[in-house]
Formats: sequence, structure tokens, C-alpha cells
Amino acid sequence: MAKNDFVEVAKASEIPDGRMKHFEVDGKEVLVANIGGKFSAISDRCGHMNALLSMGNLTGTTVTCPFHGSNFDVVTGKKLTEPILTPPQGMEPLPQSWQKVFESMGQLMAHKTYDQTIYETRIDGDRLKIKV
Ligand code: FES
Repeated sequence: MAKNDFVEVAKASEIPDGRMKHFEVDGKEVLVANIGGKFSAISDRCGHMNALLSMGNLTGTTVTCPFHGSNFDVVTGKKLTEPILTPPQGMEPLPQSWQKVFESMGQLMAHKTYDQTIYETRIDGDRLKIKV
């Protein structure tokens, strides 16, 4: 395969509007989202701690990381919010011993993530293609 080729990954009809799917293309893990019939592709590994973003939630063009809730725009790849390392509000308070563990983990873990790489997509008939 030449370096700048588009690679067919699926039928476009396999990803309904408002849904996303994980693909592996030439060793790269890619999230493809269908937003109103337009397909966008970004790196599927969160820049924070490597979670698969395609396992998170998609709302409009925003994907939320399933691990610590960072938000990214699936069209631009831009980070919209940083990770959240504290338990969400409304959760039962953790036992004291667990709180200490989480505090020390929070000090070890980075509270930042980064923009995601974006990839070009192309539709030929019903064939969805990606260039990585
Ligand atoms: S792994 Fe994605 S926000 Fe932590």
C-alpha cells in the first residue's frame, strides 16, 4: 500500500448517523463518527491515559472519554475539556481509606490531555475510506 492511499474500512451504512466505530488502519487506531451523514476520523486513543474514545459517548460532535471524561470535537480533533480525576458530584462519598488512595493517584496522574490527530475520510458509493 502506498503511503498516501485511502484504505477502505467499512460500508458507510454500517455507521448510522450519530454513532461512532473503532477501526485499525495501518497500525493506527481510528475512531470514525457519522455526524449528519458526514464522516469524521480522529485517533481513537485518548491523549490522557490511552482509553478508547469510541467506547465513550458521542453527543453532537463531542466525544466524551469513558475513563476521566475529557471531551474532544470529533470533527476538529480539538480537546474541549481536561480530564476529571475526582469522583463525579452526587456519588456516595468514598470510605476514608479509598479517598487517600485516590488523592495519591491524582497527584501521580497528569490532569491534562491533548488535541487528537485527525484523518481524512472519503465516501465512494457506500464505501468508507480513511487515509492515515
Ligand atoms: S484516559 Fe481519557 S480522560 Fe483519562
